[in-house]
Amino acid sequence: MSEFRPRTILEPFRIRSVEPIRFTTREQRRTALAAAGWNVFRLHADDVLIDLLTDSGTGAMSSRQWAGMIASDESYAGSPSFYRFEAAVQDITGFRHVLPTHQGRAAEHILFSAVGKPGMVVPSNTLFDTTRAHVEHAGAEGRDLPIPEARDPHRRHPFKGNLDVAALAATIAEVGRERIPLVLLTVTNNSGGGQPVSLENARTVSALCKRHDIPLFIDACRFAENSWFVKTREAGQEDRTPIEIARELFALADGCTMSAKKDGMANIGGFLALNDDALAARCRTLEILTEGFPTYGGMAGYDLEAIAQGLYEALDEGYLRYRIRSIEYLGEKLVAAGVPIIEPTGGHAVYIDAREMLPRIEPLEYPAWSLTNALYLVGGVRGVEIGSVMFGRQPDGTERPAAKELVRLAFPRRVYTQSHVDYVAEVILHVHRERDSLRGYRIVEEAPFLRHFTARLEPLA
Ligand code: F0G
Repeated sequence: MSEFRPRTILEPFRIRSVEPIRFTTREQRRTALAAAGWNVFRLHADDVLIDLLTDSGTGAMSSRQWAGMIASDESYAGSPSFYRFEAAVQDITGFRHVLPTHQGRAAEHILFSAVGKPGMVVPSNTLFDTTRAHVEHAGAEGRDLPIPEARDPHRRHPFKGNLDVAALAATIAEVGRERIPLVLLTVTNNSGGGQPVSLENARTVSALCKRHDIPLFIDACRFAENSWFVKTREAGQEDRTPIEIARELFALADGCTMSAKKDGMANIGGFLALNDDALAARCRTLEILTEGFPTYGGMAGYDLEAIAQGLYEALDEGYLRYRIRSIEYLGEKLVAAGVPIIEPTGGHAVYIDAREMLPRIEPLEYPAWSLTNALYLVGGVRGVEIGSVMFGRQPDGTERPAAKELVRLAFPRRVYTQSHVDYVAEVILHVHRERDSLRGYRIVEEAPFLRHFTARLEPLA
């Protein structure tokens, strides 16, 4: 008999605890969305059928994680749960000092409070929003230097998350080493489409940083997904395990920030890890000020246990194959039907290009917002706009179209099955076929900062 190669994406787990999802009618969804000011952030989550708003803190934990949580220790100082957490982080990252934090942005806050000040520049492949906000909060400037291929949504490049090394060298020459406190590599690059960074790129960036004596840090939120892309796309890496690849990546750096709500497989938590003793001491002082004692850092003992176990589960090959294949599978269905998306698909989400799909809706009538709402109204699917509502408002209060109009559909970890993904594809295809009926929106109420979370909008007639 020939070799059996199944096409089904077999979830590498079985389900022993289930959570019902609520089916609503189109009329009920219209009423809910209108009451929410036409903003999916303001919906009650039980009015959502398939929730792809974010992959952050929304994953399902394993029976081993729950077992660890039951057996956890809640001592204020020196909890055994902290030492298990510290050992797991050190085993995977190799960094000497491990500072727990309540989530990723808390690690960013501590790090950039310690190293950032006015006049400084933090180069990156692309800083995530909260990271950029913390760099700027410290008075420094964040500078995104992605490779040029990353700008073209349809350009198929295996490592569109790579940092432009020539641009980094030029930045160091222009700004000077003393004004660059560190270089930050975001793996995978969330804002650029969940695109991975190659080991080769990380090695080159690391060598350049070493030559200039500039520390290299990793924003490690999706380090396990990045390792899977290295294994499957980078020449010579196919026989290595994801944990070996992850260890090599971390060994190229001096430290990392982490949101354990992603590849920590936990619902809350994060950490800052680094080698520099003096910097670690300064960061611990800041940690006590804002997060708590350094053996819990804003988390409960049971959160530390969930992460200590979750970090290893995120590196499991069977899990990573299912995870990355699910995203790719949705992407294939959309591309086959002519829906414009960022290609190739990345690690945690599919990004639909609403500007290309809805050319008749002006950027400042928010095409990606309109598409996000249509997916909810038609099928109860919640995504998120990454476009001119999120980024269009300038500091002086004027409006400018964002660089891209995207709808991100991010997958919670281990939560949805292949039939959920098939359903999501059906919803998107239905909306795509009837895209000419979509209308723009206008904002009727907004906050001065981060307006997309709370704004109220109105559909245009
Ligand atoms: N870095 C990256 C690359 C992220 O994607 C996030 C969060 C953070 C840092 C901050 O971590 O939320 O634990 O404070 N991303 C979420 C998202 C919110 O939906 O993409 P946090």
